[in-house]
Amino acid sequence: MAARRAAGNDARSIALGVSLSASWLAAGVPLMVRVPNLVELDVPQAAAVRGELLRGLLACPAVIAPKYLYDALGSRLFAAITELPEYYPTRTEAAILAAHRDAIAAELPRGLTLVDVGAGNCEKAARLLRPLRVSTYVAVDISLEFLREALERLQQHHPDVTMLGIGSDFSSRLRLPAVLGEGSRLLFYPGSSIGNFMPAQALDFLRQLHAAAQGGALLIGVDLLKPVEVLERAYDDPLQVTAAFNRNLLRHVNDLVGCDFALADWRHRAFFNAAQSRIEMHLEARRGVTVRWPGGERAFAAAERIHTENSYKWRADDFATLLVDAGFTVIRRWTDERGWFAVFLAGA
Ligand code: AVI
Repeated sequence: MAARRAAGNDARSIALGVSLSASWLAAGVPLMVRVPNLVELDVPQAAAVRGELLRGLLACPAVIAPKYLYDALGSRLFAAITELPEYYPTRTEAAILAAHRDAIAAELPRGLTLVDVGAGNCEKAARLLRPLRVSTYVAVDISLEFLREALERLQQHHPDVTMLGIGSDFSSRLRLPAVLGEGSRLLFYPGSSIGNFMPAQALDFLRQLHAAAQGGALLIGVDLLKPVEVLERAYDDPLQVTAAFNRNLLRHVNDLVGCDFALADWRHRAFFNAAQSRIEMHLEARRGVTVRWPGGERAFAAAERIHTENSYKWRADDFATLLVDAGFTVIRRWTDERGWFAVFLAGA
């Protein structure tokens, strides 16, 4: 297991190997000042990243995995998307969680270990720490650097909560240290990130969440089917923040692979595919272009596309069935008045 020191020289930030941090947590060693622990699991290898990206670029149709949308700038652009009036999921989910947090807490034991999968800026979980009486907060994200800043800020407001940040590309395999804290586990997977998996992959990922919950529970947000115009506006906003988020992917790929995508040659496309019940995001060539990288190239015809993301929209009953197929028992489900978004609490 590759555990390595987290980057940065901040003396307040303790970076420990997995076994050390696990035993430290298990032993409950008291610290004068609590600081977040940081651990990096499976550091992405440059050669593997390059291989995956080039296979996708050479495929027909070309494809780039959505996880590459989230470099430092991409993560900030996504945060800006969540502020857009057209992008309803984040605020709808936040309203559901705020309205029902007492009901959620009533279903759960005290002293929880909250495992926030894809934590990003940790904002959503931050609102739950007190109401859910969390004693240990574990934030998992692909970018440990992004987590470090967020956790250090959060720790100042919650000095009584033990915090652990795990840098891991959980999209292919969710791995957690065996020991995370004393309390019963609540896995938290908000934002309808489950919608970015194809249904078969979503089932597989839910099974991994079920195993990781170790008999605890899962709190998960899911975006639901709704009128096409609402969906398409959310993914193709007039301010073109989503377009910038999508096109920034090419800048990130240029950095990772050394290719020469010219952003001006590509336009953002987002539309609802009713047969698949998903929003698709693509980048479409404005004219015929050849993209080159060390050792290779790919010609794209005018209007040819690179598929960059799917965002599935579920019927609430179908998602409940998916949870059951993954081994969960649905305890409660809440939606907003318009029935646009659902939050499920499921027992593992
Ligand atoms: C992170 N994920 C749930 C977002 C979504 O809605 O599928 C990503 C996103 N893509 C474009 N806008 C937002």
